[in-house]
Amino acid sequence: MKNHFLFSTILMLLISIGAYSQIEISTNENTLLISAEKGKTARLLYYGDKLSEVSHFKNVGSSLGGGRDLYPAFGLNCSGEYAIQVTHEDGNMSLELVVENTNQKVENGVQLTTIVTKDKVYPFWVTLYFKAYANSNVIETWTEIKHQEKSNVTLFKAFSAALQLPAGNHWLLQLNGNWASENCITESLLAPGTKLISNKEGVRNTQTDNPSFMVSVDGPLSENQGNVVGGALAWSGNYKLLFQVNSSDKLDIIAGYNEEASHYFLAKNEVFKTPAFLMTFSNRGKGQISRNFHRWALNDGGLYGAKKPNDILLNSWEGVYFNINQQVLDTMMTDFAKIGGELFVMDDGWFGDKYPRNTGKTSLGDWSVAKAKLPKGIEGLIETAKNNGIKFGIWIEPEMINSTSELFEKHPEWVIQQPNRQTIKGRGGSQMTLDLSNPKVQEYVFKIVDDLMTRNPQIAYIKWDANHMITNYGSTYLPKDKQSHLYLEYHWGFEKVVQRIRNKYPNLVMQACASGGGRITYSHLKYFDEFWTSDNTDAFERLYMQWGVSQFYPAKGMASHVSAKKNHQTGREIPFKFRFDVAMTGRLGMEMKPSDLSEQEKAFAKQGIKIYKEIRNLVQFGDLYRLLSPYENNGRTSLMYLSPNKNQAVFFAFNPISRKGSDLPPFKMDGLNPDANYKLVEINYEGDKPRIGGDNYILSGRELMNSGINLGMINGGYKSIVILLTKI
Ligand code: GLA
Repeated sequence: MKNHFLFSTILMLLISIGAYSQIEISTNENTLLISAEKGKTARLLYYGDKLSEVSHFKNVGSSLGGGRDLYPAFGLNCSGEYAIQVTHEDGNMSLELVVENTNQKVENGVQLTTIVTKDKVYPFWVTLYFKAYANSNVIETWTEIKHQEKSNVTLFKAFSAALQLPAGNHWLLQLNGNWASENCITESLLAPGTKLISNKEGVRNTQTDNPSFMVSVDGPLSENQGNVVGGALAWSGNYKLLFQVNSSDKLDIIAGYNEEASHYFLAKNEVFKTPAFLMTFSNRGKGQISRNFHRWALNDGGLYGAKKPNDILLNSWEGVYFNINQQVLDTMMTDFAKIGGELFVMDDGWFGDKYPRNTGKTSLGDWSVAKAKLPKGIEGLIETAKNNGIKFGIWIEPEMINSTSELFEKHPEWVIQQPNRQTIKGRGGSQMTLDLSNPKVQEYVFKIVDDLMTRNPQIAYIKWDANHMITNYGSTYLPKDKQSHLYLEYHWGFEKVVQRIRNKYPNLVMQACASGGGRITYSHLKYFDEFWTSDNTDAFERLYMQWGVSQFYPAKGMASHVSAKKNHQTGREIPFKFRFDVAMTGRLGMEMKPSDLSEQEKAFAKQGIKIYKEIRNLVQFGDLYRLLSPYENNGRTSLMYLSPNKNQAVFFAFNPISRKGSDLPPFKMDGLNPDANYKLVEINYEGDKPRIGGDNYILSGRELMNSGINLGMINGGYKSIVILLTKI
């Protein structure tokens, strides 16, 4: 690394004296090469596998040859997809951005490259930033836009990044779904023309599509082979990912906030910062792309609280829904503590004094305890948690309001609205979204958390929900001529509030929830320790959704709960062990009344929780190797988490299919040290003793990866196995 940075520094020195105009942005395994000659348009020359010598890039097979504009602007050469379009104060709609200066430095092990570009005629600047994280091979890029024209410039579009990949056979992996089926995988060939993945909900932005993708240039995507580019936009609002196979068969990719109904009037000297776009390249298929993103999340600040393990929790929602009272919660806490649980989270239904929250129709906005339900207040619950040696957490939905609430009586103007039209409401026919562009609303949302925490500093965890979108687009706060700023200002307001909460409460654990998996982005995860993966807790469905989420987001953040025998969302009945094992592949939790469990199930849950504590570091901090995809094998799934030193791993296999006589192929593992021997022991088994374990189950990494192991077990439907591998 040292040498590499030395090389970069010398290179930059040469650039500054005009000898070269190429900038090499590098991680341990990737290179992004840019041409940035002073007075000329900055060009993207190459993105891919690490280049050994910059000067030879033109001969590398996957180079782009002549290069294309690094940040294509509308106006002069505008037939292709562009990243920025503005109207200057004199009405001119064009931009011609040329390099003014560049800079490259290393700060805390991260290489930061800055390319300042300026319009040839107008005092208008676009500065491009690239942060290269060496070990995770992720490059984070964003732009900052500024001008010194006499009056406002209108920004009609300002995307985060533009990429181009060479001609080839381009395949796209995207995540899509809906409520209770979020983040499932679709892979398809990118045909000539434009493919758009976008969001326009305004608040939740990952319930239908996720702003992350993988693209291969060499045909269908594979788990372990082939050149793949992965991208993820870190933005909590509306977005666009645009893929265009152009007339030369090259693939243009543009990613950024969704500019529709969002033109922005940029004042003189104001800085407009675009959301960050994260990219990584792998020559070893999808698996390595995922591991790169996970490493970045865990080590480079992508996931809040990434260094401390997440607790095993019981959430009250599916156990009691709105029927909260001190006695029932006391019992849940006592029962959960007995089986080894660590944290209890009180979900919806605890608040509303004048209008107690008994359904989804009322009370959002009134964040004081419903005294009839909880006479001893939150203090009473914290007391029970403390007596049982567990932590206490609480659910809030602070961006939202019901029309039946004291807050609405006091501040009807705080709602996002079109005053002269009938209001379209959400959940319960009464839910609306508060106007976070308004600093008074920002203050109010901050105070919801601040008041809770000031009164009850023992609150260890907040589940932050958001169950509505932006309807009735309009703000009573923003002036008449800035109504089009609302989609953007909402999320800048949101970020201000969560940043303020983080500054004051750095150790508070927070979960991002939005009707389930509606807020799974690296914009949220910068502030939140974890996310609620989906309201659908059916273990079979979760195999697919969690496989999807794992493409970009780490298991540590992926809340995964064991729920009732007959699943509340699908009605499907799945054996307890299978449900438990699926939940153990993420951040384990429970979502039920423990008193509904049989004695046998309680004993199994106690064992499962104990085992999860033993494997927690592997699951939450290990490297994920996906072995068998449910999408390709009718739900049959296998994956493993490996410690970074390859000394220990936990392997999971699931077979939901009930078919007699169909032998399963051997399970081949991955990532192990081929020359090391591993001892295999089944854990979390039912019955007296493990089926796998003992001297017969010592195998080399090479055998485990090349030949695999036979797990004759898994027939008969909803069977699963968990195996701990230890290097001997
Ligand atoms: C949303 C969440 C659930 C639960 C309910 C409470 O649907 O996703 O987990 O908290 O709200 O109303």
